[in-house]
Amino acid sequence: MTERIVLAYSGGLDTSVAIGWIGEATGAEVIAVAVDVGQGGESLEDIRQRALACGAVEAYVADARDEFANEYAMPTLKANALYQGHYPLVSAISRPVIVKHLVKAAREFGATTVAHGCTGKGNDQVRFEVGIQTLGPDLKCIAPVRDLALTRDKAIAFAEAKGLPIETTKKNPYSIDQNVWGRAVETGYLEDIWNAPTKDIYDYTATPEFPPAPDEVIISFLQGVPVAIDGVKVSPLQAIQELNRRAGAQGVGRIDVVEDRLVGIKSREIYEAPGAMALITAHKHLEDITIEREQARFKANVSQRWAELVYDGQWFSPLKRSLDAFIEDTQQYVSGDIRMTLHGGQAIVNGRRSETSLYDFDLATYDTGDTFDQSQAKGFIELWGMSSKVASQRDQRASGL
Ligand code: ARG
Repeated sequence: MTERIVLAYSGGLDTSVAIGWIGEATGAEVIAVAVDVGQGGESLEDIRQRALACGAVEAYVADARDEFANEYAMPTLKANALYQGHYPLVSAISRPVIVKHLVKAAREFGATTVAHGCTGKGNDQVRFEVGIQTLGPDLKCIAPVRDLALTRDKAIAFAEAKGLPIETTKKNPYSIDQNVWGRAVETGYLEDIWNAPTKDIYDYTATPEFPPAPDEVIISFLQGVPVAIDGVKVSPLQAIQELNRRAGAQGVGRIDVVEDRLVGIKSREIYEAPGAMALITAHKHLEDITIEREQARFKANVSQRWAELVYDGQWFSPLKRSLDAFIEDTQQYVSGDIRMTLHGGQAIVNGRRSETSLYDFDLATYDTGDTFDQSQAKGFIELWGMSSKVASQRDQRASGL
């Protein structure tokens, strides 16, 4: 029987050429797999038709937008995950959902190998292949750009020679990856890290310098998940989409960073994640009133480690699963409303309320009626400083003072 290979297919030039390129190099039949994670653009049906026209024997397409929002974006929100303190893991969280569908398609169509369009320099090859190894240990991986010398020039020549139904002239100087959680733009002019991004690279956000009138929004959460916006019930996907629109119109969520790739390279990336950043900001402020102090402090460390694991392609790892269980436990009382103003590139919280809040007005107030017994603070401070005081006395003795 002819060997079968499933290919992660975007509908663009490189993966369209990869269909025939892989076929010629390996003699295998290629099944194209297109997964919609909210990247916009063409319909799944158009992508399916192009895959078949480019020589795929079958095409598997899936609308995974709700799955992505519920099972990948929401855990990222519960973790307030920002890699290196900035990046909300836009591309990193989309790879595992695509991997799930690739493995499913491989089983459905009896494929032995999974192919993807990544280069050998980035994180995404790692995320795909570590994911595939974990979910389908018997499956092999192949990356035509990395393993079969499929360069841009060769891709254009191949598409023209074979008359593939794909545009080869459109010149985009940037490499872009986008989904409902955000958008990532790199390469070209941005590789000089002193160059400021030009206006044309943005798509999810408007220029924050000239914002429309401030937009006040109330986001309601239930156990860490947004469930209503301005009192109207929403699904996680709808919450992200609505905030992408509203926060995007105010220029919220533009990020310009040089980040540490897993493969040891520092790289410049521009992100736009208006919905994600507005949601993370609101969620964090709700946690501030609903999570106990020690749990909250520890959770910040867990979140950082979680973000590193996910960035590094360990979505399906045991440690990530254990950290998820901790994070999930912290979300039990993260329910309530956050009011925030979106304006001029910022999402600023100005009100919070929760039935499960730990904020106690009677303890906090400086007005009369205060229930906090201030006289107890004195003894507490004495004991709190004791250990350092004893050590300092020892230090002074030891230095002969
Ligand atoms: N640097 C980011 C990451 O590794 C985004 C990579 C996405 N690719 C792109 N073409 N911008 O998650």
